[in-house]
Amino acid sequence: MHKIIVRGNNPLFGEVDIQGAKNSALKIMTASILTPEPVIIDNVPNIRDVSVMADVLKELGLTVAREGRKVTLQANGSIGIEAPYQLVSQMRASIIVLGPLLARFGRAKVAMPGGCNIGLRKIDLHIRGLEKLGAKIDVGQASLEVRTDRLVGANIPLDFPSVGATENIMMAACLAKGTTVLDNAAREPEIVDLVNCLNSMGARINGAGTSTLIIEGVERLKGVSYKVIPDRIEASTFLVAGAITGGDVTVKSVCPEHLGLVTKKLKMVGCEVSEGENSINIKGPSSLKPVNISTLPYPGFPTDMQAPFMALLSKAEGLSIITENVFENRFSFINELSKIGGQITIERHHAVITGGRTMVPGVVRAPDLRAGAALVLAGLAAHGSVEITDIHHIQRGYEDFTSRLASLGANIEITEDESLVELAVGDGLNFETPSAGVGL
Ligand code: UD1
Repeated sequence: MHKIIVRGNNPLFGEVDIQGAKNSALKIMTASILTPEPVIIDNVPNIRDVSVMADVLKELGLTVAREGRKVTLQANGSIGIEAPYQLVSQMRASIIVLGPLLARFGRAKVAMPGGCNIGLRKIDLHIRGLEKLGAKIDVGQASLEVRTDRLVGANIPLDFPSVGATENIMMAACLAKGTTVLDNAAREPEIVDLVNCLNSMGARINGAGTSTLIIEGVERLKGVSYKVIPDRIEASTFLVAGAITGGDVTVKSVCPEHLGLVTKKLKMVGCEVSEGENSINIKGPSSLKPVNISTLPYPGFPTDMQAPFMALLSKAEGLSIITENVFENRFSFINELSKIGGQITIERHHAVITGGRTMVPGVVRAPDLRAGAALVLAGLAAHGSVEITDIHHIQRGYEDFTSRLASLGANIEITEDESLVELAVGDGLNFETPSAGVGL
């Protein structure tokens, strides 16, 4: 019912504050299952995925209240163990309730996950890891059930450093008997953030940010007040917006060290990038250079920035190759980009981008969260008007995306049922205003 209309080809200028990291906030919300005491999380973005996770947790029986950027959760009283399809199908990250429920209550049942349409996104590593901790697993057609009398620490090597499997197994291991060694663990900043939060709750986890996590099980965890790190993917998206429009944009409230390879690649395409303590400024050049990119688990180039860079490199003078190593089928938005001037061919997991393209007017569909954002970025560079439909995908992960781009000078708006919605209203979810601690 909603679409975004961008009238592009004007440079963006100004500063934008970056919100808390979606992929941290969601997991830290699930960590609240591990304790009966209140968990207060600050810097939680106002996005649809957070809202869905709040609904999942409320369905389980947690109390969830939001006050501004703070979300307070408490898992005391009667807590259920089943996350239903109607919610899990909306967001794959719901699967992360599995480990905490199993650890605290010895049982969990989760419907098979949905989420971004980017390949199979299997859960075999989650299952095998929990089995090694002593869980009995029953995989049905529509749901996954796990149970245990007592989890016991184990040595668990992951075949691939899956972010979700690392989080699920680590949270289960927090309350297991004895020590768990998780090898080939994911090293993303959001994993480090979750570890820092869990350790503040009384967990004993060492090695965060390395590929070996050592988790000594404890009897119980306590409540915490914790602030989520800035969203490096949102920051990167706004930097690409500056780059693709030849503008001058500063992202504030960020951790520049988390953007490592993204800023490096932005420099390689010819942007001037300067880092402050908590900010990054980008000045886009009049002409962009081609680069090759391979996505990899952190500290490699983030797969979530693959689509935005595809849009950017469509403007570069020459051929670029992007190799997708993390997800299958993450090139599905190429058809959409082609409709507005992109010229890309696919050879297995390599995309060859013929640059020097002028983005043209057209109507495109956001196939998933990051590809949706990439189409908006392409629209910012278009000569004419680009309409993006299915923008609920974008609202999953970007708070007030259009109004924040508009504040940088973008000519962009959201329409609903053919009538324009005032940008001032914002395009994020309207959580009710703070004061009384409104339930999510
Ligand atoms: C998380 C992020 C997502 C990011 C991704 C990779 C959240 C909510 N989402 O997703 O934005 O793009 O990390 O950085 O944090 N795999 C298996 N078996 C498993 C688990 C994963 O084969 O049991 C495969 C997946 O199919 C995929 C790859 O491993 O090809 C990476 O998946 P994973 O790291 O688990 O990503 P998510 O946690 O789903």
